Amino acid sequence: MLAMKILRVSGGRPLFGELVVSGSKNAALPILAATLLIRGTVELIGLPEIRDVSAMLHLLSLRGVRVEHLERGRYRLNAEEASPSSVAFPEDGGLRGSIYLLGAGLAAHRRSAVGLPGGCDFGERPHDLHCYALRAFGAKVLEREKGLYAEARSLVGGEIRLSYPSVGATVNAILAATLAKGRSVIYGAAREPHVMDLISFLNRSGARIKVLEQGTVAVSGVERLAPLSYRVMPDMIEAGSYLLMAAATRGEIHLRRAPEGQLSSLLPLLSESGCRVWEIGSDEIALEMRDRPKPISVTTEPYPGFPTDLHPQLSAYLALCLGESRIREMVFRDRFRYLMGLSAFGANVTREGREARIVGRERLFGARVTAPDLRAAAAYLTAAMAAEGESLILSAELLLRGYEAPLRKLRRLGAVISDADVECGALPQADRRAARGSE
Ligand code: UD1
Repeated sequence: MLAMKILRVSGGRPLFGELVVSGSKNAALPILAATLLIRGTVELIGLPEIRDVSAMLHLLSLRGVRVEHLERGRYRLNAEEASPSSVAFPEDGGLRGSIYLLGAGLAAHRRSAVGLPGGCDFGERPHDLHCYALRAFGAKVLEREKGLYAEARSLVGGEIRLSYPSVGATVNAILAATLAKGRSVIYGAAREPHVMDLISFLNRSGARIKVLEQGTVAVSGVERLAPLSYRVMPDMIEAGSYLLMAAATRGEIHLRRAPEGQLSSLLPLLSESGCRVWEIGSDEIALEMRDRPKPISVTTEPYPGFPTDLHPQLSAYLALCLGESRIREMVFRDRFRYLMGLSAFGANVTREGREARIVGRERLFGARVTAPDLRAAAAYLTAAMAAEGESLILSAELLLRGYEAPLRKLRRLGAVISDADVECGALPQADRRAARGSE
């Protein structure tokens, strides 16, 4: 039976204190998929203990990968007994990142399948670029109702020109190119830090991948990759989420192990809106906020633009701004499902085409909301902690897909949050939710 997590939040308390940023979800998932390419044991350090990582480990074990949990954040994986598979597991559908197993399995075994990827529901999430990229290596890729199937006698490097810098398609192209014959050049590649982390993981294992210029990646195929130990980089979205939560509650936060240089689109916006932000050394960021934010306008874009994964949380922070703010969403057309819940806190947020228009209120009030996806859940928590009174957040287990120990971290900063797990069957019909996918 599925369990739903319900949070009870007593708002109106500034967050205050220090927090260590966990490993990056969006780097961990492609790196985990890439372990299929490696002969021998891989040790990963700093993996975030989140549900999406557990889900990916499960999908790898279904494919024959041996997974050992050594200690918190530390795992040993060995894919030597993983077998070529044409089976698309239904479990794949619960995790968007499972699509990386298509390219990884194809590279490792020349044959792979994934159950149709799920994902947070913010509009159509096509896979045409993934299929195009793998076909460019000579693979036959079939799109069926139940899944995607790829097969190739051999993979041959070539030119891949992505019409949009899709993170997922770039990852699949890099994975296929790593063990393909000859040289590949990927034009229009995604530049996200998590793509760079995958590249540095693969290169440490013996791959020959070079970023020629921003958006162009050259890969000289190698025959095999060697065992390695690797630390996953810190999570820029987690870091950004906590900065926004601290700012919304008019508190003070000091992040340790913050991602170096990756928040260059968020930090200036925070300063512009009136926060005092300062960096200490290369991996510490501090923020202090005392007032209502000044209004700002921002557009979400592929990296180095403002990340779509911080859009709902930024909206929650701006719900208290002195004037009118706008967030233009240019990555996922329908990433606005958070709006209704945010209005329940008293926020004046409306959608105009691809834009969220936010007219700031002096205060927000406690509300009862149901989270529709991972980052919306983080936005509701932001609003609940900034609001006066008590809030209930249903479907808050979605947070655990992407945030490591969020309640423990927030309670240490002074948040007053209690949680309860309730069997979905015990809830009213309206609150029952099927198993959901994630980003
Ligand atoms: C996206 C984010 C990524 C984040 C991840 C998890 C961007 C550019 N990507 O990656 O940073 O880590 O969510 O939240 O911000 N698209 C196609 N065809 C395809 C694939 C994608 O048209 O085959 C389109 C999508 O509809 C979307 C855009 O490309 O509009 C971005 O998609 P993509 O980067 O592939 O998404 P994710 O890999 O999920």
